[in-house]
Amino acid sequence: MKVSVKVPATAANIGPGFDCMGLALPIYNTITVEESVSPGSGVEINVVSEDLEDLSYEEIPQDKSNIIYRAIEVLYNSVGQTPDDLKITVSTNIPLTRGLGSSSSVIVGGLMAANELLGRPADEAALLSIATEIEGHPDNVVPAILGGLVIASQEDDGSIAYSKLDWPDDWKITVCVPDFTLSTSIARSVLPKEVPLADAIYNVQRAGLFIEAVNKHNPDLMKIALKDRLHQPYRMKLVPGLQEIMDALKHEENVLGCVLSGAGPSVLVFSHRNGLDKIKCIVHDTWDCVNVKSDIKTLPIEKNGAIILNRTD
Ligand code: HSE
Repeated sequence: MKVSVKVPATAANIGPGFDCMGLALPIYNTITVEESVSPGSGVEINVVSEDLEDLSYEEIPQDKSNIIYRAIEVLYNSVGQTPDDLKITVSTNIPLTRGLGSSSSVIVGGLMAANELLGRPADEAALLSIATEIEGHPDNVVPAILGGLVIASQEDDGSIAYSKLDWPDDWKITVCVPDFTLSTSIARSVLPKEVPLADAIYNVQRAGLFIEAVNKHNPDLMKIALKDRLHQPYRMKLVPGLQEIMDALKHEENVLGCVLSGAGPSVLVFSHRNGLDKIKCIVHDTWDCVNVKSDIKTLPIEKNGAIILNRTD
């Protein structure tokens, strides 16, 4: 049997929602898993990318240590089985290690493909829980599975509690991807184990306001809400130009906020009304001043999550 799963990119944290808020974007990886016809061939992993300049694809493990294989193995083991010989192909458009959920996309793709191969033993709740367990936090995998803007937590029993919010269509999301990578493990290693109570309160206040701002479609509240003291201040030094970009965008009337996408280094700029070209110029030129090239696009939110593209027996 052969199964293909299409999974969207995701941007996590979104200002005050460290490790709990994320949204899906219309950039996709397609993960195809095929039971091998020649037993004993082991696991074969191929990565197909249109972006031939992205040399980091060469660093993807081609053996059973690959995170896609590990995700598949977790699901098989959960029903007391081990995977047969498999051919896995990842057709990738989500830039790697840029804070756009590339690893979550392949975890979700591997899990959903394995679920089809096994006859769907896992329901959506189980997939959310297993994917979060593998990734370590829910803010990428949950919107990758469900689409849209999601707030999620993992409960003590491993289950995922979540709520989807309706993102206002006229609030634009400009996704700014620099030409350098930043691994999540490095970006997490700079975070403190404990934070001042005042900073925790600051984020709780803004996370509450964020939900109200989205639900009431209130740009003034959103300008206050899109701030963070739990991760961005510590990661600032890992993303050259970020402080300058934030400082420059502060003066733009139409900008609602500027945040790190996930663990970075990509940056999201939220805005309303017009002025997208000016926003793109500010980000491009500020990064250019520190010798960083960038790819900048304004994208709608992806309302749909991962889907099974096809399944052949
Ligand atoms: N919430 C995660 C972080 C997202 O900021 O580390 C990246 O995987």
